[in-house]
Amino acid sequence: MTDKGEGSRSSKRVQLFTESVIREMTRLADECGAINLAQGMPDFEAPSRVKAAATKAIMEDLNQYETTWGSAGLREAIAEKALRFNRIQANPETDVTVTCGSTEAMTVSIIATVDVGGEVIIPEPFYENYVPATIIAGAKPRHVKLSEEGQSFDEEELKAAFSSRTKAIIVNTPNNPSGKVLNKDELKLVADLCADYDAIAITDEIYEHIIYDGRKHISLASLDGMSDRTITISGLSKTYSVTGWRVGYAIAAKEITNAIRKVHDYTTVCAPTPFQKAGIEALKLPQSHYTRLAKEYQRRRDFVVKSLQNIGFRAASPEGAYYVLADFSSISAMDDTSFARNLTKNAKVAAVPGSSFYAHREMGRSKVRFSFAKRDQTLREAMNRLNRFAAKLRS
Ligand SMILES: Cc1ncc(COP(=O)(O)O)c(C=O)c1O
Repeated sequence: MTDKGEGSRSSKRVQLFTESVIREMTRLADECGAINLAQGMPDFEAPSRVKAAATKAIMEDLNQYETTWGSAGLREAIAEKALRFNRIQANPETDVTVTCGSTEAMTVSIIATVDVGGEVIIPEPFYENYVPATIIAGAKPRHVKLSEEGQSFDEEELKAAFSSRTKAIIVNTPNNPSGKVLNKDELKLVADLCADYDAIAITDEIYEHIIYDGRKHISLASLDGMSDRTITISGLSKTYSVTGWRVGYAIAAKEITNAIRKVHDYTTVCAPTPFQKAGIEALKLPQSHYTRLAKEYQRRRDFVVKSLQNIGFRAASPEGAYYVLADFSSISAMDDTSFARNLTKNAKVAAVPGSSFYAHREMGRSKVRFSFAKRDQTLREAMNRLNRFAAKLRS
C-alpha cells in the first residue's frame, strides 16, 4: 500500500497528537533486546489465586460478552472495595462501570461528560494518555504546572486555570511520572474550585496501593460535596500486576454513570469476561497482599533511587507509584529523546524521554523516566548497565 503520510486520510483531531512515546520505547526495547524500564509493566507473577480464577473461568467456557457495564459480582466487589479503601459509597447497580482498563475509563469519562470545546485541566507533568483522550473527546486541554520541588499545585496558577469554560480536571494521585501523592489540603483546593466552577473531577487512582513511607491514599470523591461531581477511576493492572488483562472501572453518581455506560457500550461493549471473574478473586485478597505490595515496591524504590543518584542522576524519591523521573544533565548534554534512545540501543536499558510528560516540553528536556516495576535481579542488572553507560559517556 502507498504511504501518503499523515494528513491525507486522518482526521484533524487525530493529527493533533502523536503515537504514545511510552509504547514506542517498548517497541524499541524489544527490537534492541533492552531491559524495559520504559513502560510500567511488572516482570513478576500475579497472585496465584487470581491466575487460577482466570484459568478456571476460561475452562468453564465463560467466553461470551459480559453485561456491558460489568458483571454483577465484580461491580459488587468494586463497591465493597471502594467503601473499605476509598471511603466512597457506591451502588453497584447504578454507580459502577467496568471498562477495558482504566485507560478506557478515562477516555469514555471525558467523552461522556465534556462537550466539544469544553476545557479539561491537566496538571503537568502528566501521564501521556490524558491529552489524546481529551482531544479524542473534542475537548481542549488546559495545563497547570505543578511546582518542581514537591510537585504540588501552585494555588494561584490553579485558580487562574479555572473559568466558566472548565468542565473537568484530571487528578492523578499517586502521580505518574512524578510520584507525588496529593494530601488532603491539596485535594480540598481542587474540591473547592470544582464546586465554585461547577466542574467535575476525573481521578486516576491506578497506583492507590503503591504508596510509601506510611502515606495514606485519599480519594477526592471522599471529600465533602465531591461524591456527586467526581469520577473515580482505578483498575486491576497495577495492584495485581496484570496490566495485560485490561480490567478497570469508573465509579460515579448515577447520572454520570449512565453517560459513561452509553459511551463504553458503543466503544468496547464489555471488558474481558474471564478476567472480570478473576477480578472478583483479586478484590477478595487479604490486607497482607496490599501491605506486601507497598513494602516490596518501597524496597525497589529505595534501591533504584539510590543507584540512580550514585550513577549521577538527580532523582527525588517518589511518594507513590513506581517511577523515577531522573535528571541526567550531569551525565550528558543530549536532549531527552536522544538520551533515551541512546540508552536503549547502547546500554540496553529503555526509559521514557521526559518531554512526553509535559505540555511545556522543554521542562522534560533533561529528564527520563524509569519504571521500577521489575524483579530485584532485573533492576540490579539495569543499574549495572546504566552505571557502565554513564561512565563511558563521562570518559
Ligand atoms: C497514571 C496511569 N493511569 C493509567 C494507566 C493505565 O492503566 P490501565 O492498564 O488500567 O489502562 C497507567 C499505566 O501505566 C498509568 O500510569
